[in-house]
This record gives sequence, C-alpha cells and structure tokens, in this order.
Amino acid sequence: MSDQPEQSVSSPTLHVVVIDDSKMKQRFLKAILENEYIVHTFSSVKEAKPHLEEIGPVCFLMDMERPGEDPVASIRTIKDNPKLSETPIIMITPTSDVETEQRVLECGCDDYVGNRFAREIIKTRVNHLVELFEFRKNLEKRVAQKTQSVMELQDAIMLMLSDLVECRDTLTSGHAQRTRDYMECLVCQLQANNHYVKELHEDFVRDLVRAAPLHDIGKVGIPDAILNKPGKLTEEEFEQMKRHTIIGAQAIMHTISKVHDNSFLRVLRDLAMSHHERWDGKGYPLGLQGESIPLSGRIMAIPDVYDALVSERPYKKPFTHEKAVSIIKEGIGSHFDPFIGEAFLDCELQFRYIALNQQEAGEASS
Ligand SMILES: [Fe+2]
Ligand SMILES: [Fe+2]
Repeated sequence: MSDQPEQSVSSPTLHVVVIDDSKMKQRFLKAILENEYIVHTFSSVKEAKPHLEEIGPVCFLMDMERPGEDPVASIRTIKDNPKLSETPIIMITPTSDVETEQRVLECGCDDYVGNRFAREIIKTRVNHLVELFEFRKNLEKRVAQKTQSVMELQDAIMLMLSDLVECRDTLTSGHAQRTRDYMECLVCQLQANNHYVKELHEDFVRDLVRAAPLHDIGKVGIPDAILNKPGKLTEEEFEQMKRHTIIGAQAIMHTISKVHDNSFLRVLRDLAMSHHERWDGKGYPLGLQGESIPLSGRIMAIPDVYDALVSERPYKKPFTHEKAVSIIKEGIGSHFDPFIGEAFLDCELQFRYIALNQQEAGEASS
C-alpha cells in the first residue's frame, strides 16, 4: 500500500486515543505507541468525548471492561459522530474466545486483542488499521478532487458549446445564459411551492440548470439563411427551424451511446427535444401532451418564451415585462404546465431583475 502513516524517527504527528480505567495499562499502552503516535489517555468515553473532535485520532484503543460504561454504547458514541465514524477502534477484551470475538465485532469494532497482549501485537494491529484508515481517507480525497475536475471540464465544454451556438445564432445573443438564470430561479420557486418534490432532487436540479444554456444546441444544424433571417420565417422555413429540437437530441443521443450512464446527458437530451412541446399537445416536434412531456422541457418552456418575448427581434420590438407576464399567464394550462406557470407568477419579479441585470451587463460590455 502506497499511503503509509507517518512513522518517522522525527516527532509523531498522528493521534491515538487510549480509553482504559487502569492507569497502569494506560501508561503501558502509551509506552508502546508513543514513538510513532501522539497518545492521549482517558479513563472513560465520557471523559474523552469533549476532546475527541479536536484530537482527530487515527485509532482508538479501548478496554472492554470499564466500570459504569457499556462497551456497545461506548462504540456507538464514537461511531455516531460523523467526524469519527470511520476511525478504527481496537477493543481490548478480557478473553479471546470465539464468543467474545463475535460480540466485539458485532459491536462495530474493527479489531480486538486479548488482555494478555504482546507489545509487538498491539503495535502491528494499530499500524495496520491506521494504514488502512489513512489510505481510505486519501482515496476519498482523490476521488473528490477528480470528480471536481471532471465537473469543471464539463462546465468548460458546455460554455464552449453554448458560445458556439450563440456565434451562429446572431439574432438571439445572450439567450443561452439568460435562460440558465431564469431556469435556476424557476426551479427554486417550484421547490419552494412544493411541486414536483420527488423529481426535483439535488442531482436533477444541478443537471437541469447546467444543461439549460444548451437547450438550442440543435440550431447549429439549421442553415444560416433561416437561423439569421432578418424577418419572419415562412411556413416552410419554420418547419425547418423546428428541426433544431430533433437535431440537438440526436447529437446528444449519439454521445450518450458512447459513455456509461450519464444523468446530465439524459437531462440535456430531454431538454433539447422537448422545450417547444406544449401542455395541450399542440407543440413540436412530437406533439406530446401534459405530463408525457419531460419535466425538464415543461420547465424550460417558460424561460425560453419569456426571453423571446422581452428580447428584440428584427421583426418585433421587445415586449415589456408586464406584457410578457400577461402572455405567459394566459398560456397557463394550454401552453404551460399549470404548476410551473404558477411558480413563474410567484417569481416573475426575479425574472424582471435578471433581464435588467443582463441588459445592463450587455450595455456595459458593448
Ligand atoms: Fe428552441
Ligand atoms: Fe431557446
């Protein structure tokens, strides 16, 4: 194993806690371990408890028979503390028969030694458990660091992709980022209203907010003449434009087939495919109705429409916030999911705030 505990000839840095009511045994155990560990001795768990978190031990050595303290309750006191629950405990037992061994291990101890232990046995057992403990701690740290860097990479790739979509779609500049902010606000309100509680768990919400800027990713497959046409689209052009939902979903499905189960990509696929569906079934591309539309698409529909309404287009002036709210309000139950529409009405002022902020940021940078 590569992650050895620090057992140098210099001062020890790792802490071991000995809990034993016999002062003589405390001194004996301390003498065995103090070359390699900083040893703290206590007569009972009750006495040790207030100091344990600060000490941060890498191992406990605990006498099984202490007056006034039940060994099982003692172990639970330690294991129930999240900061100590992984710290190994070695129980010193009065006998070393099978029954005692079973009892000790069932209590949640990691190892045990009989009362007539040899110095080397104690040292080896402690070293072995500390080594495992430290290894596991380092491993968890490394996994957390790796996960963090994968998330950062995903965010960077998504930012790059949404920039690419925006580069092509010059008429809706800033739409991707704004819809992300609206989405975050709307999901928070849905949670506050206690709607879709089961579906809106932490992982789903995180994926949803991160995926929002890419909902129009399929627009990269729409010809420039249509995507950037400075006027209303003809019926035929609009039919082509509708295909951005399918183009986006297909590209993401292709990616899904290449990677092991990835919740983010599944959310993104649903979002890209269904953000133009309508609650009454009159949307596109599939004409899905009600709850058969993925929740991600039902939520996305509102930020998407709100942003289109309050933004300027070559063929229309921006609507005021009030007008946009009244149009969305009218669409609740026909265009929009009633619960999501209700949540929008509860947080529409925050939408206005986001829109104003983004507008000011855009003016400042131009
Ligand atoms: Fe779209
Ligand atoms: Fe959009």
